[in-house]
Amino acid sequence: MYSYFYRLFQSLILKRSFNEDLIKLIKQHNVQDIIDIGSADSPLLEYIGDEYSYHGYELDPYFTNKLNLKYKDSKKFNFYNKGVDDIDFERFNPDNSIIVLVGLFHHIDDIQVKRFIDKTKRFKVFAIDAVKIDGQKNITKLLMALDRGNFIRKIDNYKKLLIDFNFCVAKNRYLRLPYDHLVSTRNIDKDIVIKFFS
Ligand SMILES: C[S@@+](CC[C@H](N)C(=O)[O-])C[C@H]1O[C@@H](n2cnc3c(N)ncnc32)[C@H](O)[C@@H]1O
Repeated sequence: MYSYFYRLFQSLILKRSFNEDLIKLIKQHNVQDIIDIGSADSPLLEYIGDEYSYHGYELDPYFTNKLNLKYKDSKKFNFYNKGVDDIDFERFNPDNSIIVLVGLFHHIDDIQVKRFIDKTKRFKVFAIDAVKIDGQKNITKLLMALDRGNFIRKIDNYKKLLIDFNFCVAKNRYLRLPYDHLVSTRNIDKDIVIKFFS
């Protein structure tokens, strides 16, 4: 039910999908495993074929049960009902994996973020989240207040927290309403990020 209303609302206000840009970035790298954390109903799958192994980690079993059923015959697409704290990253090779966090950081607290970045130092990490910036319009503030994530941070707070990351603000790029996203990346060429996300 949540999924249905979330996607309906998103389709009404979405101008373009994050995943259109994300897949271009992924294609620029030697990637075999895509590790998608906070994957919900895994919209990224619409953009990839079986050239990648996909691992979706999601806390809400509604999504993982549904996707495990839908892709039960696929060896390449895997779904785990696990939170970010419980993922064993050692099973992946950082040289040919990318970790994707579309809207996860604003759902987890600072301690969880720090634990995650400590465990994944050698991985390519791509994250995109709503961000508070001084001077944003009231409609932007309202949309952020309606978000189910409790940790939409100010830009400086993301920057303090995400050590060794690069940042790029995607200003009014994805929604039909004024809204900013912060793209935070680690071990990914800054110029490639700017090319696809600004
Ligand atoms: C904004 S939604 C992002 C959905 C999806 N990534 C997309 O591209 O549409 C954030 C998702 O993170 C999940 N989530 C929240 N806390 C989590 C945690 N600690 N570990 C894993 N997933 C979590 C939520 O259940 C929710 O589905």
